[in-house]
Amino acid sequence: MWLQVLFLSLSCFSSVTLSQAQDRASLRHSNDHAGRCHYTFTVASPQESSCPERSMKPEMDGVLSRVTLLEALVSRLIAGMDGGARTGVGSNGGEGLQEAYSQVTRERNQLQKDKEHLSGQAQELQRRLAELSREAESLRETPCQHTHTSGGTQHEKNTPASDPTDLGNGAYQEMKAEVTEVPASHLIPNGNHTFTGCGELQSVGDPVLHRKADTMTGKYGVWMQDPEPQGPHYDNKTVWRMDTVGKDVRQLFAYEDMEQLSQGFPMKVLVLPDPMESTGATIYRGSLYYQRKRSRTLIRYDLTSESLASRRELPHAGFHGQHPYSWGGYTDIDLAADEQGLWAIYSTSKAKGAIVISQLDPKSLEVKKSWETNIRKNTVANAFMVCGRLYTVASYTAANTTVNYVFDTATGAGRAVAVPFKNKYRYNSMVDYNHAQRKLFAWDNFHMVTYDVRLGRASRS
Ligand SMILES: *[C@@H]1O[C@H](CO)[C@@H](O)[C@H](O)[C@H]1NC(C)=O
Ligand SMILES: *[C@@H]1O[C@H](CO)[C@@H](O)[C@H](O)[C@H]1NC(C)=O
Ligand SMILES: *[C@@H]1O[C@H](CO)[C@@H](O)[C@H](O)[C@H]1NC(C)=O
Repeated sequence: MWLQVLFLSLSCFSSVTLSQAQDRASLRHSNDHAGRCHYTFTVASPQESSCPERSMKPEMDGVLSRVTLLEALVSRLIAGMDGGARTGVGSNGGEGLQEAYSQVTRERNQLQKDKEHLSGQAQELQRRLAELSREAESLRETPCQHTHTSGGTQHEKNTPASDPTDLGNGAYQEMKAEVTEVPASHLIPNGNHTFTGCGELQSVGDPVLHRKADTMTGKYGVWMQDPEPQGPHYDNKTVWRMDTVGKDVRQLFAYEDMEQLSQGFPMKVLVLPDPMESTGATIYRGSLYYQRKRSRTLIRYDLTSESLASRRELPHAGFHGQHPYSWGGYTDIDLAADEQGLWAIYSTSKAKGAIVISQLDPKSLEVKKSWETNIRKNTVANAFMVCGRLYTVASYTAANTTVNYVFDTATGAGRAVAVPFKNKYRYNSMVDYNHAQRKLFAWDNFHMVTYDVRLGRASRS
């Protein structure tokens, strides 16, 4: 019954927020499937063309996340029951059954607790909904000027700028771009020794699949493990994931380990204070670093306290489609961590679209030092940092492509290379290096994959 109450309040709430684009008041009523009559009153605010960010959206997201989590728990419970049933009829009868039974009991108790918590939240939301309704009522009493007659112009003025990242508009955030591949001269492997120090990229292995996203919002995204975990709750086995298709990207899923990721049940869902843009986020030293939507603002979100730790503009950085990678997707600002710290890969109007690399202070997000390369950001598919060197990937769609360029921040010099790289699923939207595991993490067309990388001593000067 409580679920019914919750979803009822969610649907009521949605109708209130979604009505913001309408420019006249309306009162509708219809039966729900239980046959009860629902009244929906919608009215546009005379002052605001869209709802302020701080409205009920975060609470709504919070509840949605918890519902997601609850669904995961229910799936686990069901899986647990199945497992229990199987063990019950199996050869080692009693003990297995006992174990399965106590697991189910534990999970039931957990569910009970979650249920109570959610019911509390549902009540809170209903209280706020009542408030909102009262507010709407009083707004209706205030006469609106010229809403009905000047429909045409009014509508134009009030329509929010259409956002291609809005799933509702049926469009993805990708943009048309030409993929250029730099002709490959072959790299001659140098020496044969197992090399554990910092060095230059020698080879990238075949992609290893860990999980396929199962909803449309997972066409592209970001996933990673913290190379230098901090704090009491998470370690180097925790897997972090964000699906980044959609208008308001805020949900950060935490999985205990790779196995839990493959099975699909997050242990936790964190809701970010500000929405994220694109696939440039990274996890480093117990924080999620990301670019705030439609801005050059970088955010450090502390995973333990689940709160904003710092926020700072990346000076002059292009954003929201000014200097993306070739696949588009507002990939203007790409954050990366390696053996030498935290980096931002982006461009500025002064650099005219050439890749700029800045080393950032991981605490304050201040730029410590910057380098300007001569590789155009929109001619490469992606980039990552290894040992203070920037590497670019030539294509995001070609099954056999190359890492085609390296820029060394130690010398300030760059040059073309050709290290084979595979986009097995033909749409690679994120590539990040994890130095603790010496692997690349990538998101290739719904597929979360890793690549082993081999480093070696620099093969030149
Ligand atoms: C590299 O060296 C190892 C042992 O030192 C050897 O087993 C292996 O075959 C060598 N690989 C190549 C490609 O030469
Ligand atoms: C995590 O760290 C431990 C200890 O340093 C190490 O043995 C283990 O391989 C690491 N696991 C991962 C997934 O990086
Ligand atoms: C990619 O290269 C592999 C060998 O490395 C080859 O088997 C495969 O056919 C190539 N795929 C394409 C699409 O060229």
